[in-house]
Amino acid sequence: MQIIILENPEQVAKNATQWISELFSKRTHPILGLATGSTPINLYQELVKSYQQEKLDFSKVTTFNLDEYHNIAPENAQSYRTFMKENLFDRVNIDQENTHLPTCNNEQNPRWQGLAYEEKIKQAGGIDLQILGIGGNGHIGFNEPTSSLSSRTRLKTLTEQTLVDNSRLFNADEYQPTMAMTMGIATILDAKHVILMATGKNKAKAIKEMITGPVTAMCPASALQMHENAIILLDEEAASELPNQQYFQRVDSEHQKIRDKYGLFL
Ligand code: PGA
Repeated sequence: MQIIILENPEQVAKNATQWISELFSKRTHPILGLATGSTPINLYQELVKSYQQEKLDFSKVTTFNLDEYHNIAPENAQSYRTFMKENLFDRVNIDQENTHLPTCNNEQNPRWQGLAYEEKIKQAGGIDLQILGIGGNGHIGFNEPTSSLSSRTRLKTLTEQTLVDNSRLFNADEYQPTMAMTMGIATILDAKHVILMATGKNKAKAIKEMITGPVTAMCPASALQMHENAIILLDEEAASELPNQQYFQRVDSEHQKIRDKYGLFL
């Protein structure tokens, strides 16, 4: 894991944008894994800004999102499709045909729908760079604690904590789905690179467990300890419970010298 501690959420978003720019400059047809939630909103703003300044071109980009609510119409205001359109897809020159979210309706066995998403990722050539947030309970995507570390895209029942955490996003009269289709932990580990972003004090405990705890299904993000190219971008608050912070800062300043000399490694 490359752990990079930055001053604030804006710096986290800017840093993630640099990695994405690097990917776009190195691949003719980049395959980007995307996430929803509050954390990546700053990142999407940065990406839109870079597109407007003609620094980023999305015309050859294919995207795969981590998750989507169960049995929700794409045009529903609460769907992750709507979130992605509002925050990114409708604001850059991406071909919407190349933007994918897992779907799960009631017409077909969810198992097949999950496997079809896996197949789509495979056909595209695999994800080059997967963006991730982390839940207060250590989830990545909607892989809740106790998710199999070998899981693939499938329907998950959300935990009480996730439902409470996300209830802020629903009006009192709106139905809040309790299940979601999500890439599995093994799906995420297949991405060539992953960037996990975490900001704010409410993520500090999960971050400590992910980095310094055992690899355990009780903290699904800890599976990233097994990933060859995991970049963890934290603001100071999310990093606040990490022991050995000076060590991580020192490692990063050594890495920075290498990055300055040779560019980002993707
Ligand atoms: P958040 O969610 O960015 O809204 O905090 C992250 C997650 O649950 O993965």
